[in-house]
Amino acid sequence: MTIPEFTRHKQDKKKLIVVTAYDALFTRIVEQAGIETILVGDSLGVVVQGKANTLSVTMAEMLYHTKLVAGAAQRALVIGDMPFMSYQASSEEAVRNAGRFLQAGATAVKMEGGAVVADRVAAMTSIGIPVMGHLGMTPQSVHRYGGYKVQGKESDHARVLLNDAKALEAAGVFAIVLEAIPAELAKTITEQLTIPTIGIGAGPHCDGQVLVLYDLLGLFDEFVPKFVKPYAHLKADALQALRRYKEEVEQGKFPSDTESYH
Ligand code: KIV
Repeated sequence: MTIPEFTRHKQDKKKLIVVTAYDALFTRIVEQAGIETILVGDSLGVVVQGKANTLSVTMAEMLYHTKLVAGAAQRALVIGDMPFMSYQASSEEAVRNAGRFLQAGATAVKMEGGAVVADRVAAMTSIGIPVMGHLGMTPQSVHRYGGYKVQGKESDHARVLLNDAKALEAAGVFAIVLEAIPAELAKTITEQLTIPTIGIGAGPHCDGQVLVLYDLLGLFDEFVPKFVKPYAHLKADALQALRRYKEEVEQGKFPSDTESYH
């Protein structure tokens, strides 16, 4: 999946399907399922590293996981998520760090924020780095929100988010993730942009959807937002398998002759 193929989905009215992945094993499974866009999300800070939020994730950690995913991906568009403080301080730092994602094998980077990061977006796109925007409930601002809360419910704030989306489009992003905003606002933003919107907790009217892989597989259940639909219950399956393994070793049933060499 190339960037032009990705953006063409909007004109062709074909939904874009995006999931996160953090390693080679799941990248292969995602591709086998026919999903062609993978976000190496900084959500790995929560679902892989077990932190309360994404703020402590480093560039080194993101580059490591990006290499694993990009190394395994055969067809998928791989997007690297720029971690907190890798792009906020200056455009120069943002461009250098974005370049490191492409050197690690990503095709594009994602960055949180609206009009305030438009200059970073313009600096990156001017040297050929494709950028995906991210608006609404942007997890790197969790302390400003005082928790993970739906954004853009009041008309003033909704207008700010619409203007942010337009500012990002003008700066050159190829798509925008809309997270945890009312479906009606996501519909308006989607209709007013020529680039695709990718929703997560933003209703059905976006041009595509993204979910955190471990949420959709039912592996991560410590915090399940309303917008998550678990399509499997892999944590329950894993628990059952591990308990049976423990039991069978304790009872001398495993290994049996089938699993033994002679
Ligand atoms: O970090 C992440 O996985 C994300 C998606 C939830 C959009 O930003």
